[in-house]
Amino acid sequence: MSQGFLVSAYLISALLFVMSLAGLSRQDSAKTGSLYGMVGMTVAVLATLGSVAMEGFTLVTLLMMAGAAIGLFLAKKVEMTEMPQLVAMLNGFGGLAAVLIGFSSALEPADTLAATEKLIHSIEIFIGIIIGAITFSGSVVACLKLGGNISSRPASLPGGHWTNLALIALAVVMGVVFVQQHSILALVVMTALALVFGITLVLGIGGADMPVVVSMLNAYSGIAAAATGFMLGNNLLIITGAMVGSSGAILSYLMCAAMNRSFISVILGGFGTESGTVSEDSEQGEHVEVNVEEVADMLKNASSVIITPGYGMAVAQAQHPLRELVNKLRAQNIKVRFGIHPVAGRLPGHMNVLLAEAKVPYDIVEEMDELNDDFKDTDVVLVIGANDTVNPAASEDPSSPIAGMPVLKVWEASQVVVFKRSMATGYAGVQNPLFFKDNARMLFGDAHGTVEGILKQF
Ligand code: TAP
Repeated sequence: MSQGFLVSAYLISALLFVMSLAGLSRQDSAKTGSLYGMVGMTVAVLATLGSVAMEGFTLVTLLMMAGAAIGLFLAKKVEMTEMPQLVAMLNGFGGLAAVLIGFSSALEPADTLAATEKLIHSIEIFIGIIIGAITFSGSVVACLKLGGNISSRPASLPGGHWTNLALIALAVVMGVVFVQQHSILALVVMTALALVFGITLVLGIGGADMPVVVSMLNAYSGIAAAATGFMLGNNLLIITGAMVGSSGAILSYLMCAAMNRSFISVILGGFGTESGTVSEDSEQGEHVEVNVEEVADMLKNASSVIITPGYGMAVAQAQHPLRELVNKLRAQNIKVRFGIHPVAGRLPGHMNVLLAEAKVPYDIVEEMDELNDDFKDTDVVLVIGANDTVNPAASEDPSSPIAGMPVLKVWEASQVVVFKRSMATGYAGVQNPLFFKDNARMLFGDAHGTVEGILKQF
């Protein structure tokens, strides 16, 4: 394939990726956005394949087919509730790829390069490998935390932040030794230190801050990909890596703003563990239970209802019967809206995707900031499998591990019904004083079954 053709194909891919990001920024254009991204990636892969020298063609094609088959299998098999773990691992694989390509570049003879070019190439390898290694090991830990394989609570490490600081400082020193002396041993030691740093960094970050960590690792994988693009002299990889890096960084910033967190405190790990008490999960009073008939009566007598879904709605797949319930209520002229917390569920936009899948109209789905002042004028709030995102302790108890995080002020409504299976805590591991308030009622059971039970009363 001629160089001109390759450059044109890469330019078309880059444009499609920009259009994809623009499309993904709005719910109603997200599908088209995804389509642009898929077409862009297909063009990029075909053009790259066309530019591979003939002797490598068969091997590259076979490896790509194997990778595509594994990807297809995983994407089909993964449950919606396991998507965050998948995203974390995809970030991690991006980082691992940067490490492997970095080593392959470092081991390649660079005799044809001038001294300055050699220095720049070594710096590219250093940056690609160090960020790639942190991304890989950090993503594995994030995946294990999100999947509940290890505790989501922040682990305090011996030496605290100083251990992390020492690890990263040593890794950078080793990287500098590699750049100056082209010592592969220094590169191996740097990689090992960066891998350990990735683990300790993410282990030290608390459960409620995990959304920021995942998007930060996403940004890191983009930076590692851009560095790999420089190593390989591949312009499209540089552009794509830069787009992933910057959009991940913007998302991390927006999530921190939404959760009232300082990005630096989150990244330094263990936000809230020094000033707050870790995980207060004892019960804080008497809770009152209700049954589906009583909740149906409350709804029939209401004129305004807000539904605040959380991770439990995803587990129960309750969005479909909820949509039917919403139809019934609206048919009786009851005003119904959904209130979405920015970190409800386990990944950004989790609730929006589920509600869109169940064909809930976009115009009744509102963000937290749009309706947080309306709860006081609302008759009934249905909290469907949400916990941390509706926890008043965040604003009322400065010692709570989630103190300062803005939450949906559901307790200001006349009546609140909490749909969950038990009195267990949410993701952050803290008990919720909402459950013990005078206007709160607990409806225990799998949310799919309880919503269907209410539906039968109409
Ligand atoms: P959570 O605080 O995780 O609470 C979910 C609740 O759902 C649990 O208390 C659970 O109680 C209930 N539940 C689970 N399965 C259920 C079922 N089948 N039927 C009914 N209820 C069920 O959820 P949230 O309010 O959405 O908050 C999200 C949390 O995850 C935040 O702490 C956030 O920081 C964190 N997080 C978010 C993200 C992103 S980007 N969204 C990523 C990682 C972590 P029972 O067990 O008693 O049923």
